[in-house]
Amino acid sequence: MSGEQDWNKKSVKILSRKEGNTKCADCGEPDPQWASYTLGVFLCVTCCGIHRNLSEISKVKSLTMAKWEEDLIQFLDKHGNDAAKAKYEAYVPIYYYRPTHADCHVLREQWIRAKYERKQFMKKEGSDDFPGGVKEGILFKRGRDNGQYLARKFVLTEMDGTLKYYIKSEAKEPKAVIKIDTINATFQPEKMKHNHGLQITYVKDNKARNLFVYHNDGKEIVSWFNAIRAAQFRYMKVAFPTASDKEILRRLPQMFLKEGYMEKTGPKPTDAFKKRWFTLDHRRLMYFKDPLDAFAKGEVFLGSSENGYQVKAETIPNSHNNIWNYGISINTPERTYLFTCETEQERDSWINMFKKVISIPMTVREYAVEAQFKHR
Ligand SMILES: *[C@@H]1O[C@H](CO)[C@@H](O)[C@H](O)[C@H]1NC(C)=O
Ligand SMILES: *[C@@H]1O[C@H](CO)[C@@H](O)[C@H](O)[C@H]1NC(C)=O
Ligand SMILES: [Zn+2]
Repeated sequence: MSGEQDWNKKSVKILSRKEGNTKCADCGEPDPQWASYTLGVFLCVTCCGIHRNLSEISKVKSLTMAKWEEDLIQFLDKHGNDAAKAKYEAYVPIYYYRPTHADCHVLREQWIRAKYERKQFMKKEGSDDFPGGVKEGILFKRGRDNGQYLARKFVLTEMDGTLKYYIKSEAKEPKAVIKIDTINATFQPEKMKHNHGLQITYVKDNKARNLFVYHNDGKEIVSWFNAIRAAQFRYMKVAFPTASDKEILRRLPQMFLKEGYMEKTGPKPTDAFKKRWFTLDHRRLMYFKDPLDAFAKGEVFLGSSENGYQVKAETIPNSHNNIWNYGISINTPERTYLFTCETEQERDSWINMFKKVISIPMTVREYAVEAQFKHR
């Protein structure tokens, strides 16, 4: 390597330590090792992979391995992550979900495409995924009983705060009317075995119900996801007029805290253990026979330790049809639940999540949810 190249690499390294450049411009991952020398941004390796597919607008190089010419370095110096953010993220709607390093591919890819390819956020006009407060379109929805995905018309309406779907697009009566304030939408590519798979969970008659949908166009499914967030944000603005935007954002659907298999036994000492798929949605621990079931077999409410909720590790002998021994007990004011996990690591991970949830005091709203659970 020549002395000049060596020197240039050093300059790139110094630029990457400048404020704003120390995190990936697109997902916030610390210590980016790549840069786009046409957009002037520093990127993590995963986002860089997505940029490679936008080769018309973004050309990338490694900070450590590539050769950096003087003019490219000057370009990076003049631009950088902060300047790119000011330009490409000028009008990101407040409800819009900004993916992190932990998020699935479609969310990250569409965020990057929206920013640099569609330039969706450079102007106020066209930046909104829910203009006029109505969104209508076809999504493929998994049949509740046969597991087949069929085209269904979905309509999201801000005015009445609902998401509806119709069996036939010309049908007058919707098959379901879902209140948007009960919806949690999460991307589930692995569970659904579809890159654009979206799970919509909502509460009906105090019980959780799952819908599994996808759209073949990544842009469209991410747009639905953000439109649902927009509808919820605006709904909550009206419902909680004194809450700040930040507080409202915190109340928008979160990713599930954890999902996975455990074995579970019934309330009687003679009940056998059965393997179930568990989903922890904040204080709602739901369990399903199959990960893609529409309805939970049951739900456990996790309150707070101040109110008598306790979580402990247990060792459970193979005595009641259980295959796994790494046990967990959850004490609620009503009963004790016993679960088993396949590995110690899995058990610790569940216990950490449960402890995190019960360490937080309950809100007024959560006391109301707890009361609904008790009245089942
Ligand atoms: C790039 O595009 C190809 C072809 O569409 C696709 O298979 C691949 O997953 C894309 N890579 C990334 C990182 O987005
Ligand atoms: C959706 O998420 C919110 C907060 O993350 C939670 O309070 C609510 O119970 C969830 N709803 C469902 C249906 O799981
Ligand atoms: Zn990144």
